[in-house]
Amino acid sequence: MKQPWYILGAGAIGSLWACHLTDLGLPVSLILRNQAKVDLFQKQNSILLAGQCYPMTAELASAPKTIKQLIITTKSIDTENAFNSIKNRLDPHAKIIVLQNGMGSQQWIQSQCPHAEVAWASTTDGAWLKAPFNLQHAGRGVTQIGAPDQTYTWIDDLIKGGFLNVVQDKNISLTLWRKLAINCAINPLTAIFDCKNGELINNPNYLSTMAAICREVELVAHAFDIDLFDGPLIEQACHVAEITAENYSSMLQDVRQGRQTEIDSITGYLCRQAKVQNIPVPINLAYLKKIQKVHR
Ligand code: PAF
Repeated sequence: MKQPWYILGAGAIGSLWACHLTDLGLPVSLILRNQAKVDLFQKQNSILLAGQCYPMTAELASAPKTIKQLIITTKSIDTENAFNSIKNRLDPHAKIIVLQNGMGSQQWIQSQCPHAEVAWASTTDGAWLKAPFNLQHAGRGVTQIGAPDQTYTWIDDLIKGGFLNVVQDKNISLTLWRKLAINCAINPLTAIFDCKNGELINNPNYLSTMAAICREVELVAHAFDIDLFDGPLIEQACHVAEITAENYSSMLQDVRQGRQTEIDSITGYLCRQAKVQNIPVPINLAYLKKIQKVHR
C-alpha cells in the first residue's frame, strides 16, 4: 500500500499540493487545526478545484499514525508550533518537503530531524481559497524542489504527471536566495508605503530606497559566495515589480488584513546572515524594524 503524504498547513498552496498528489494517485491526509475543521472537511472528504473533487482524508495533529511523508506549507512564522504538534508522530527517516516563503525554517526543520530526508521547495503558483476546501488555482507557475548537496530520487515521483509543473532543482539554495532577495527588495517597501508593486519603479524615492536595499542584499549574498543574478539585483527587482505592477505584495496584504507578516524569514533572515558576516545592512534593518512595529 502506498504511504500517505501528510499536508501540514492546508492553506491555498498546501491544498493545491494535496490535489496534485491526489491527481498522481497518491493518498493524502490534511492535518487540520481543530475538530471543527475536520468535521467541516468530512462533509465532503475532498478538495474542490476547477469543478473537480480531489478525494483525501483529514485529521488532527494528535492522530496516532506515524508520518513518513510530509509537506510543510504553513506560513514560515507558524513552522515551529505546527511542526512541534506532529513531531512525536514523525518517522526519524521521514521524507519532508518544506514549501514556504523566506528562509531559515528549512534549516530549522533539518536540525529538528537530522535523519530525515528534507527537501526545500519554492513555487510561483498562485492559489486562493474561495471557501473552505474550495480552491482557485489563480496563476500557473513552477515549483522547484531540491535538497542542498543531496539528490533524493523520490522527488521524481512528484514530478511525473499531476497537474502542477514541478521540476527538480539542483541548486535550490540559490533559488531560495533569489526569491528572498526579490522579496527583500519589494515586500517591505510596498507594505510601508502601502502601494502596488509597480509604484516602486515609478516613484524616484521608492526606487532609490529599493536600490539601496538591493546593494546591501548583494553584499551579504557575496559574503556567502552567492552570485544572485547575472546582472545587478536592482534590475531583477525592477523587472519583477514591472511584471507584477498591478499586484499588492503578500506582505502588504498581510499588513492590511492585520495578519502576521513573513518579515522575520525574509528581511529578518537577511539581517541575521549579515550579522554572521559582520556586514552592515542599515536600510534592511530599518525596514525590518518598521514592519515589526506595524505587525510582525
Ligand atoms: O511576495 C510577493 O508578493 C511576491 O513574491 C512578489 C513578486 C515579491 C510581489 O508580488
